[in-house]
Amino acid sequence: MPPTPLTFTLNGQTLYLQDVSPSMTLLRYLQQSDRTGTKEGCGDGDCGACTVAILGQDANGNPQYQAMNSCLIPLGAIAGRHIVTVEGLTVEGLAESELHPVQAAMVATGGSQCGYCTPGFIMSLFAAYYEGKVDDLSVEGNLCRCTGYLPIRRAAQAVMQEQAARGSIAAPGDRFATALSQAPVSLPPLDYRSVTQQFYRPTHLQILLELLQQHPQATLLAGGTDLGLDMSHDRRSFPLLISLEAIPELQAIEQTDTQVEIGAAVPLSRIETQLHGLFPALDEMLHWFAARQVRNRATLGGNIGTASPIGDLPPVLLALDATLQLASLQGTRRVAIADFFTGYRQTILQPGEVIVSIQIPQTLFPGAVRRISNSYKVGKRGTDDISIVAAAFTIDLDEGDRIHHARLAYGGVAATPIRAIAVENWLLGKPWSLDTVQQAKPLLQEVFTPLTDLRGSAAYRKRLVANLFEKFFVEESS
Ligand SMILES: Cc1cc2nc3c(=O)[nH]c(=O)nc-3n(C[C@H](O)[C@H](O)[C@H](O)COP(=O)(O)OP(=O)(O)OC[C@H]3O[C@@H](n4cnc5c(N)ncnc54)[C@H](O)[C@@H]3O)c2cc1C
Ligand code: FES
Ligand code: FES
Repeated sequence: MPPTPLTFTLNGQTLYLQDVSPSMTLLRYLQQSDRTGTKEGCGDGDCGACTVAILGQDANGNPQYQAMNSCLIPLGAIAGRHIVTVEGLTVEGLAESELHPVQAAMVATGGSQCGYCTPGFIMSLFAAYYEGKVDDLSVEGNLCRCTGYLPIRRAAQAVMQEQAARGSIAAPGDRFATALSQAPVSLPPLDYRSVTQQFYRPTHLQILLELLQQHPQATLLAGGTDLGLDMSHDRRSFPLLISLEAIPELQAIEQTDTQVEIGAAVPLSRIETQLHGLFPALDEMLHWFAARQVRNRATLGGNIGTASPIGDLPPVLLALDATLQLASLQGTRRVAIADFFTGYRQTILQPGEVIVSIQIPQTLFPGAVRRISNSYKVGKRGTDDISIVAAAFTIDLDEGDRIHHARLAYGGVAATPIRAIAVENWLLGKPWSLDTVQQAKPLLQEVFTPLTDLRGSAAYRKRLVANLFEKFFVEESS
């Protein structure tokens, strides 16, 4: 790839940047270039004050405005993209009638007091507006400290009512709807170099593997919702980043009668939509995973690659017997996710190797006739929080309602996401009954030795390990 400049479109204007750091966050760039409408609250992806709308693709590959936290997105990742910030909603000679419909609704319902959070709410509502689905979930990743949420929720309802009354998402002549219909959907390759940093975005798997062989010390960047925290706070330098966002194999979701294969760099919000209803345990965990802006960027490969013991999706994948397709220039290999994590933040991934995809079988264990599966997340607050314990269970039953296959997987109880294998084996052949579950609970209490930390004590975690299994039985049997 010949070196390419860093270009992107901001509020309709194409910008051409030279010698900026490709790991500088978009939020920092906006502030430094006096575009101060976008606000910084936490710098951690938690408050939504920095929300912007970036053109991405929906589950059908069509262009879509997506709300994202600009505090977590490095400039390298926005090359070739179209971005709308709150300033982009302004029109010449601004009058109230010229406000964007989501702004007008916020004015009408009194949805802003100090106004600091307002640009973020507006941009989340803006992105949802062009999906035709403006609701409470559209703003789940936005915090407000002074208005109270009711007026903001009323604004969202008013926008929905207006769209329903009109019978179309956007009014005729809406310039953002027009831009959407003309937007490019694919990302171009990028080879960007500043004085001290390089940022590659290959568009072929083979080129990615060659780059990794050449630069084994490079950092792979998927959605950047983990790595972005270091970028936002300048905690680490990133001399060489390789983006995984433009490689077809890592962006595809393939479904057959027997399995689903999910590209490692598919954003979670696409998985949420495209695979909804296939795996109840996955649906449930995605619902509680961060908030919309993060799910629009975060990926399954990143959740596995970060190897956190409190990552929420590895327990689900363990419970579903997922396998990973890994690739390097030396070849490809398929490994069970149960064999992937080797210790605290350690995996079997070799230098030069990348997670290409995750396969989840759709078939019951041979000899079983029925499957029960679900997942649970316990945190300090309902949404947008880190797990104290996450759990995912799969039980396959035979014709006599006896346990034929069992997977009990947990996060937050050991140095890695982990299965309670001894208890799984103990359950085999037993009837699926409250009595069996009550007998399993003391065994589950003893199977792990979790740590005490700020979020919860070891004793509390042990009780959760057992009680969540009982909750699963009660909920799934009623
Ligand atoms: C506000 C906020 C809320 C969050 N909430 C949750 C939550 O509820 N539950 C949860 O589990 N996590 C949560 N996270 C953490 C994060 O969003 C997830 O871990 C996410 O899945 C990471 O994916 P990513 O694509 O953004 O990873 P990145 O940040 O791009 O990468 C993470 C790591 O994985 C490596 N990597 C990425 N892709 C690959 C690949 N294909 N092959 C090999 N290595 C790879 C990278 O090199 C890096 O080391 C949250 C983060 C934030 C900021
Ligand atoms: S500043 Fe809080 S989410 Fe970005
Ligand atoms: S209006 Fe002040 S923080 Fe929301």
